[in-house]
Amino acid sequence: MQYKPWLGLLIVLVLACTANEEPTNTVDDVVGTVDVSTDAATDVVADVTPSLDDGNHIGPVPEYPKTEGDPELGYTALINNGYVSCGIPKSLSHLIYLGVEADRIPGRNEQNQDMPYFWTSITSETGVELIVGNCLACHASRFNGELIIGLGDVRRDYTDDFSAVLTTALAFSSTLVDSEEEQAEFEKFVTRAQALAPYSMTRTRGLNPAVSITAGIMEHLDPVTLSWSEEPLLVVPAPYKEHVGGLSVPPWWWHKKKNAMFYSASGAGNHVAWAMLASSMCIEGDGQAEEIASYFPDILAYIDSIEAPEYPWSIDAELALQGKEVFETHCSSCHGTYGEEEYYPNRVVHIDEVGTDPELAVLMFEAEVFHQWMDDSYYGQHSWARPAMGYIAPPLDGVWATAPYLHNSSIPTIAALLDSSTRPTCWTWSYDTTDYDPTTLGWNFQETSCHDAITDPDERDAVYDPSHFGYGNQGHTFGDSLLPEERSAILEYLKTL
Ligand code: HEC
Ligand code: HEC
Repeated sequence: MQYKPWLGLLIVLVLACTANEEPTNTVDDVVGTVDVSTDAATDVVADVTPSLDDGNHIGPVPEYPKTEGDPELGYTALINNGYVSCGIPKSLSHLIYLGVEADRIPGRNEQNQDMPYFWTSITSETGVELIVGNCLACHASRFNGELIIGLGDVRRDYTDDFSAVLTTALAFSSTLVDSEEEQAEFEKFVTRAQALAPYSMTRTRGLNPAVSITAGIMEHLDPVTLSWSEEPLLVVPAPYKEHVGGLSVPPWWWHKKKNAMFYSASGAGNHVAWAMLASSMCIEGDGQAEEIASYFPDILAYIDSIEAPEYPWSIDAELALQGKEVFETHCSSCHGTYGEEEYYPNRVVHIDEVGTDPELAVLMFEAEVFHQWMDDSYYGQHSWARPAMGYIAPPLDGVWATAPYLHNSSIPTIAALLDSSTRPTCWTWSYDTTDYDPTTLGWNFQETSCHDAITDPDERDAVYDPSHFGYGNQGHTFGDSLLPEERSAILEYLKTL
C-alpha cells in the first residue's frame, strides 16, 4: 500500500491545452513587475533559428509579467494551507500510509506536526478534520536517500485502477465514519476521485498522470461557476484516457528560468493561475478560488527560490572544464549557458527536430476544448494556453538528480540519452534512490522483457515499455556524433550544474 496513492489522486494537477490562435487576454492585463531578459552570451546562441512563428510556437517563448510574492510565506502556505480542500476524515487515517519519521518536514503548524510531507491536515468549513493531498506528493522526492523539496517524485505507483475500491467506499461511507458532516466530506472527496480514476493511471510505476487528471477535472468542473458536475461537461479527446499522462515531474528549480510552464510551453500568461489549477480538484466556487489566489503568488515565489542541489560526490574539475567547452559547442544553443555568464534561451524545438515522442505535444496542441475551458474560467483571467508543436529545451541545473530523462521518463541515464545506441528497449530499476550510477548519471537499470511477455502485474508495472502510446524513447540524438571522451566530459560538466 505504501506508494499506492489512491487517495493521492485527490491531488491533482496541472497542465494545459491548446489551440493555434492567440488568446484574447493581453500581457497588459496582468498586474506585476516585468522581468527584463538578459542578452548575455549571445555568442553561443548565435545559431538559434529566429522565431518564424507560423502558429506552431516554435522558437523563443515570449516573456510575460510575473506576480511578486514572499517565499517564506509561500513555504508556510504550501505545507499548511488547504488549497486542496477535500480529502478523507482524519478518523479514517488508519486507512492511508502516513509515512515514516524521515517524511516529516520543518515549518508545519500544530495540526500538521505528525503529518508526512505529502499530506496536509486541515479543518473543513463544516468543522471536520481532513487529511488532504498537497503539491509535495508529486513535487518532492528522495535522491541518494535525502528528501529534496522541488525534485519530481519518481516512486509513486499510479498503475492501479481504483474505481472499484472507490465505488465500495462510497457504498459503505455511512458505516465508515462517525457523523453526517464527516460522511458528507468523505462522499465529496470519493465522488471526485471516482470521476478522475480513469485519468489517473499510468503504464509504469514512477510516471505521473497529472496532465490527464487535469483533463478529467476540466471534464467535470464548470469553468464559470467552479462547481462540480457528476455528469461530464465536455468531451475529452479519447487519448487522455489511454494513459497519455505518463509523464516525468520536472524539478521546481527550473521554473524560475522558464517563460511558460509545462513541456510544450503551453502555460502562458500569469503562472499563478496555472499553478492554482493544480489544486482545483476540490474547488467549490470562485470565492474559494479568490482565497487561494491571495497566497498563491507567495507559493510561486517559494518555488522560484529553490536552487538545484549540489552534486553529492566528487567531480573531476579538469574533465568538467573540457566538458563545458563541448557543451557550449553542441548543447548551449538550446539549453543555454551556466555560471557567471548565465543565459537561458527559452527555446521550443519542433517535434521533428528534437525527435522525441511527439504525442504529448500533439495532444496539447490539438485539444481545443481545454483551451476554451481555460479562457472561460476563473483561471483564464490573465493566463491562457499557448501550446507549441514541440518541447521546450529545459534548463539543465541539477539535471543529474532528475533521472529518468525526457518528458516521458523514457531513458534511465544521461549516458544513454547522449548515445542512442545504448538505450534499453524495456527496462526496470529498483526504485531505491540510493541505487544511482555516478558514471552514467542515472538509475542502475536492468534490461527486461517487455509488457506483453510479463504476466505478473507487479513485475510488469515496474517495467518501462516504450511501445505504448506516448512512451517512445526515440529522438534527441544530438550526442550521437560526439566522441566517447566528449560524452564523458559533458557528463562530468553536468555534475557541476
Ligand atoms: C499528481 C502530481 C502533481 C501534483 C499534485 C502537482 N503537480 Fe505540479 N506538475 C506535475 C507534472 C507531471 C508536471 C509537468 C506537466 C507538464 O509539464 O506538462 C507539473 C508541472 C508543474 C509546474 C511547471 C514546471 C515547469 O517547469 O514547467 C509547476 C510550477 C507546478 N507543477 C506547480 C505545482 C503546484 C503549485 C502544485 C500544488 C498546488 C502542484 N504542482 C501539484 C505533477 C503534479
Ligand atoms: C536542438 C535543440 C537541442 C540540442 C542541440 C540539445 N538538446 Fe537536449 N533537449 C532538447 C529538448 C527540446 C529537450 C526536451 C525533450 C523532451 O523532453 O522530449 C531536451 C532534453 C534534454 C535532457 C533531458 C532533460 C529532462 O528533462 O529529462 C538532457 C539531459 C539534455 N537534453 C542534454 C543535452 C545535451 C548534453 C546536449 C548536447 C550534446 C543537448 N541536450 C543538445 C533540445 C536540445
